[in-house]
Amino acid sequence: MSRSFFRAVFLALTLTVLSAAFSNPLPCKGVCNDTHDPSLIRRTSDGKYFRFATGGGIDIHTASSITGPWVSAGKVLASGSSINNPGADDAWAPDVHYVGGTYYLYYAVSSFGTQTSAIGVATSTTLDSGTWTDHGSTSVTSKTGDDYNAIDPNLIQVSGKNYLTFGSFWGDIYQTTLSSNLETWSKSTPYRIELNTTSPQPSEGAYVYHTGSYYYLFFSSGSCCGYDTSRPAPGNEYKIMVCRSTTVTGGYVDKNGKACTSSGGTLVLGSHGVVYGPGGQGVYDDLVEGSVLYYHYVDTNIGYADGDKVLGINKIDWSTGWPVV
Ligand SMILES: *[C@@H]1O[C@H](CO)[C@@H](O)[C@H](O)[C@H]1NC(C)=O
Ligand SMILES: *[C@@H]1O[C@H](CO)[C@@H](O)[C@H](O)[C@H]1NC(C)=O
Repeated sequence: MSRSFFRAVFLALTLTVLSAAFSNPLPCKGVCNDTHDPSLIRRTSDGKYFRFATGGGIDIHTASSITGPWVSAGKVLASGSSINNPGADDAWAPDVHYVGGTYYLYYAVSSFGTQTSAIGVATSTTLDSGTWTDHGSTSVTSKTGDDYNAIDPNLIQVSGKNYLTFGSFWGDIYQTTLSSNLETWSKSTPYRIELNTTSPQPSEGAYVYHTGSYYYLFFSSGSCCGYDTSRPAPGNEYKIMVCRSTTVTGGYVDKNGKACTSSGGTLVLGSHGVVYGPGGQGVYDDLVEGSVLYYHYVDTNIGYADGDKVLGINKIDWSTGWPVV
């Protein structure tokens, strides 16, 4: 047996150990598909969990715990968004927050492969289907030729300011602010907080989470969708990256200190075992499970279509100052 054989075995073992570094998602019960770009929140009044997802008026699922059993519970925008763009009946990437007694749900109206996009908002005091008021566009919009694409909104409130992180595929991740009403753009010029210059990798689906001394910028890097008809080169499918910063506006850096605006980013979760293309993530502090990363992924035993994607939940270990799942 040659030395190169041993080297190959050693490499294979190392790769096995590396890929085993991710835990499997917690078991999910009930309806766990129809969960593309999930947003999770627990209703304050009765502790019921709500899950919102991309597509067809934003489907709602509810459960008694974060891992289910999830049941179908209607839609947010049953007759589509009032935003007058292609895709108004197929809103994307919900992001839900509870502020001062009202639930705010941000969403995007766009169509695949275009920059004709807008970020909209709907509100409800209960989260239930049939109680949502659509306020239409926040005026955070984009058009062909802009540096960014106005999709994948995420709100974080810091010192009385409402930061909206969004984008993008084009130009990657940007940030701006909303007015104090939480429904309209402040008109402050969006600035970039993340860019991957290595072609063809797009970044999108950002989620900013604050814990300890840092703001953590999670984002989905790679190709998101349509894996049933065409799959990207291995490694270019969705995966979850993170950078961190002591201020919400940046500069975000990865674990090696590389700027997130110069292709930096530390891998949090990639494909492993039966998990393929995890992304569309968020972070939630659950009463039972603690701090969790939630996301959608393809279970290769189920199917690669966008509707087949299932809800993934992994506990996050923050002990090193970086999220480990
Ligand atoms: C940037 O894109 C390249 C491929 O084009 C990919 O391999 C790499 O993981 C991406 N980096 C980040 C931080 O997303
Ligand atoms: C979810 O799975 C069920 C059962 O397999 C299936 O009938 C349904 O069409 C799926 N939902 C989506 C959105 O694909």
